[in-house]
Amino acid sequence: MPEQHDGPTADEKGLILITGGAGYIGSHTVVALHEAGYRCVVLDNLANSSSSVLGGIAKIIGTTPDFVEADVADTHTLDQVFESRRIDAVIHLAGLKSVGESVSSPLDYYSVNLESTLSLLRSMHRFECHTLLFSSSAAVYAPGQESPITETAAIQPTSPYGRSKQMIEQILVDTAASDDRWRVGLLRCFNPVGTHPSGSIGESPGSKPNNLMPSVMDVAAGRGETLRLFGDDYPTPDGTCIRDYIHVMDIARGIVAGLQRVRAMTGTRVWNLGTGRGTSVRELVSAAEEATGVEIPTSVTDRRPGDQPVAIAAIGRAQHELSWDAEHDVATMCDDHWRWHRLHAAPATTASPP
Ligand SMILES: NC(=O)c1ccc[n+]([C@@H]2O[C@H](COP(=O)([O-])OP(=O)(O)OC[C@H]3O[C@@H](n4cnc5c(N)ncnc54)[C@H](O)[C@@H]3O)[C@@H](O)[C@H]2O)c1
Repeated sequence: MPEQHDGPTADEKGLILITGGAGYIGSHTVVALHEAGYRCVVLDNLANSSSSVLGGIAKIIGTTPDFVEADVADTHTLDQVFESRRIDAVIHLAGLKSVGESVSSPLDYYSVNLESTLSLLRSMHRFECHTLLFSSSAAVYAPGQESPITETAAIQPTSPYGRSKQMIEQILVDTAASDDRWRVGLLRCFNPVGTHPSGSIGESPGSKPNNLMPSVMDVAAGRGETLRLFGDDYPTPDGTCIRDYIHVMDIARGIVAGLQRVRAMTGTRVWNLGTGRGTSVRELVSAAEEATGVEIPTSVTDRRPGDQPVAIAAIGRAQHELSWDAEHDVATMCDDHWRWHRLHAAPATTASPP
């Protein structure tokens, strides 16, 4: 039988296991959890992050988080984590996240994202921890949805990455339906950018940029000659795609708000996390030029298959049910990201948005 541990004391909110907690969203969430009064244990295999992130977190919160270097699919180690600690809830962020890479390596995406989730659910169930918040993605929505996109919009992902998220959502819905002890929150995150304002944590310095903001910052820093824009003939005011960019600290606070809500409910609930505002690629580039003081040359190439002209989150449900709202504007996102990038980013080899 699993060993029992004492629960949180009256002045604690509990111990949270955060998978992928050394990553971009994870490290910021560890900070937000600490600020909200939670203790946490980070589990990460460092596939897309580095243990130096723990030092960055410590600079901000004054203590190094409890860290386990392991793969979530390593059920044996996961069991040991649950056995040695009384985990109250899990925030599951670990996984592979590049849409483009998922098209060329679908088996990696299905294998890593699905196997880690199944392993996690089994361990949680064995140790009677049934509260889970999962970072899903706007990539699950069907193409052609009218923005703002509500949580009830059609689901039809167009990439193996998005489909792995959809499959995990379904696994979680089915699992929660099988046993009413489960409390499961699904957060469909839109486009996180920015970093903690201290400049101590940000995006993995070792990773090649796949998203727009790191690519913009690379060009601003002189690490690429031009920023490639994938199409400027979309039916939008300036012809470039419009996305819902949200400051990663707003995402992190949204995750904490989701955790609080999910602990007080049963079953499954889904929330979008975005700002409800759209910014075009060209508008983001202009904001980045303002923040960096550097002109960012662009060149236009063909559209990428699957890119939607506009994707903006409907955030009414998250605002009302989570008592949460995004606070930061695009200018702050660019200022913060630039501070981090100047201090930490490794030389890049390519620049490829968004
Ligand atoms: N960044 C985005 O644009 C975005 C948007 C929507 C949803 N999400 C989702 O949010 C989550 C976190 O995204 P992120 O941007 O912080 O990514 P990230 O790559 O920075 O962080 C993921 C972390 O998980 C770790 N990891 C990967 N596979 C693992 C495994 N099997 N076991 C243990 N650790 C593992 C990596 O080392 C990394 O530290 C992902 O699930 C991603 O799909 C991200």
